[in-house]
Amino acid sequence: MDLKSLIRDIPDFPKPGILFRDITTLLRDPEGLRYTIDFFAQQCIEKELIPDYIVGMESRGFIFGSPLAYKLGSGFIPARKKGKLPGAVHSIEYELEYGTDSLEVHQDALHPGSRVLIVDDLIATGGTAGATAKLVQKIGCDLVGFGFIIELRDLQGRKHLPDVPIISLIEY
Ligand code: PRP
Ligand code: HPA
Repeated sequence: MDLKSLIRDIPDFPKPGILFRDITTLLRDPEGLRYTIDFFAQQCIEKELIPDYIVGMESRGFIFGSPLAYKLGSGFIPARKKGKLPGAVHSIEYELEYGTDSLEVHQDALHPGSRVLIVDDLIATGGTAGATAKLVQKIGCDLVGFGFIIELRDLQGRKHLPDVPIISLIEY
């Protein structure tokens, strides 16, 4: 299936000069959505990336990470923006274009040695995925890889990731 044809390009969002790759058109397509999750799971199985847990980043990482965890027989752990999780958390701060942001996971969700696959809809600069990797590695987890629906190759986000397998279903 031609997944690119289901992704809508919106110029000048959120700022002039940015061509935004919009996944909402893929999500609303029943066959496209099913194919995406099935293909994602197949890639993980082929590369032997079957984790104990998928860590997905707020908010679009939740959309793809949860059904992928279901298909792989893994658990799903949300990495949420600051102040959203009710229990004690591990946090990591990361740089945005202007200022910083934080991602958090519950302290009792992950343990040293847990096998983790990090999943998000898209990798751009790699700041978000790189920070999530630092967070899970700081806890002592075994980071087995990353999975993205979309990779924006020009931005070289991979440079900010540790040397583990990376799956991306669509590249621009
Ligand atoms: C987007 C996207 C990734 C991140 C990629 O999320 O879903 O998480 O940016 O960018 P990077 O590789 O340059 O870090 P955003 O922070 O916009 O949050 P959202 O999913 O809640 O829209
Ligand atoms: N599309 C969606 N999310 C994004 C993009 C994009 O092009 N760049 C950074 N986050």
